[in-house]
Amino acid sequence: MMSIDYTDLIPNNVELGADRTLQRALEAWQPNYRNWWLEMGPEGTHDLDIYLRTAISAEPSGWAQFGHVKMPDYRWGIFLAPRDPERAIGFGEHRGQPAWQEVPGEHRANLRRIIVTQGDTEPASVEQQRHLGLTAPSLYDLRNLFQVNVEEGRHLWAMVYLLHRFFGRDGREEADALLERRSGDTDNPRILGAFNERTPDWLAFFMFTYFTDRDGKFQLCALAESGFDPLARTTRFMLTEEAHHMFVGESGVARVIQRTCEVMKAHDLRDPAQVRALGVIDLETIQRYLNFHFSVTIDLFGADQSSNAAGFYSAGLKGRFEETKRADDHVLKDRVYPVLTVADGRLTEHEAPMLTALNEVLRDDFIRDSHGGVARWNKIIEKHGLPFRLKAPHKAFNRRIGQLAGVHVTPDGQVVAAAEWQAGAAHWLPTEADRAFVAALMGRVVEPGRFANWIAPPPVGINRQPIDFSYVRFD
Ligand SMILES: [Fe+2]
Ligand SMILES: [Fe+2]
Repeated sequence: MMSIDYTDLIPNNVELGADRTLQRALEAWQPNYRNWWLEMGPEGTHDLDIYLRTAISAEPSGWAQFGHVKMPDYRWGIFLAPRDPERAIGFGEHRGQPAWQEVPGEHRANLRRIIVTQGDTEPASVEQQRHLGLTAPSLYDLRNLFQVNVEEGRHLWAMVYLLHRFFGRDGREEADALLERRSGDTDNPRILGAFNERTPDWLAFFMFTYFTDRDGKFQLCALAESGFDPLARTTRFMLTEEAHHMFVGESGVARVIQRTCEVMKAHDLRDPAQVRALGVIDLETIQRYLNFHFSVTIDLFGADQSSNAAGFYSAGLKGRFEETKRADDHVLKDRVYPVLTVADGRLTEHEAPMLTALNEVLRDDFIRDSHGGVARWNKIIEKHGLPFRLKAPHKAFNRRIGQLAGVHVTPDGQVVAAAEWQAGAAHWLPTEADRAFVAALMGRVVEPGRFANWIAPPPVGINRQPIDFSYVRFD
């Protein structure tokens, strides 16, 4: 097992020491990264001692080492999954050829764009979440927030490594620009819409990590199929970390629901106003948050018809989810795929060439996967004998990108007039009043083993530690 030397300034398993030019470029970028972290990373955390998982090697036995780390001492490393020397390109026009170890000249611009777009989401989510540490409902949750944040920081490192190692001067410029854009900034925003939305409270954070980190999973899975082997290996290792982010989201929402249901049951309540009066989040508000995060996240997959998506696939740059497990020709020239449009005021499916519909293919894979957690959340409600059920909205609801942008569709999939949609929006999406109510519940709880009133404790701790473990130390 090749382990990582933590005495190195930049821990890595890419033999950074053997490439002086690259090492120097990254060492020059690192202080800027540190400044970015101090400015835009989790607020008020710079003296905290936090129980974190740190990768010490890319092997299954070595990537999850736990221990308390002082935040300024955390070091972000560069890890790629092990190389398979036999690996061949699995799809597109180069199918069957050996995977590329260097960037093919004709695909250079597109690969750079793919890497920059992925890389941009990583610091963006840290920026979106930077205030949340001040209102964490427990030490356990505070620790999970930091774990997600440091790993998003490491994902940025992963993409910056590729830019520096394979893209020369324009790669270095792109790496600098990744530290200059800011989530929500009017002049220099992050590239993708959902990454410029605020993550104002912990319910939003849990929804974000459930839905939007899952978008990350599907994008990374598609890139893990790439014919450009260093990108495939980097994203494969990132996926091991992404699983925890989605766990934080699913279990976080589950614990909010659990607590609400306990209170509803104990007091025999159904009315959201009465539920709120007892300091827990009503299920109706949880549904509106779900609708918002689901619809904003599925826009991240891009337009339903996209010649870029077709080009990326045919060139072997970006595959489908679980590409190698699929039993077709992996070229897709004659295949079709159903996409939605509006005709005569109704949603109708029509067949589009699968190559240009690959964003839609990935979006549908995501939607199927995301329904699983919603069903598990409903089990909790059901177990409490309550009739309410959460539901993922129709995929045409509240869309901003592709053919469904500008069409007014209800969460149930009914096309309605603009005025009717506007009137319904307050029932379907979080209102200012909802957000103010949730914000008013937020407040930092720092006593080990204690939890804010609006959320249940988790069934087990991190790394089998007890629930009242000091996941964060303040001195
Ligand atoms: Fe990430
Ligand atoms: Fe993530």
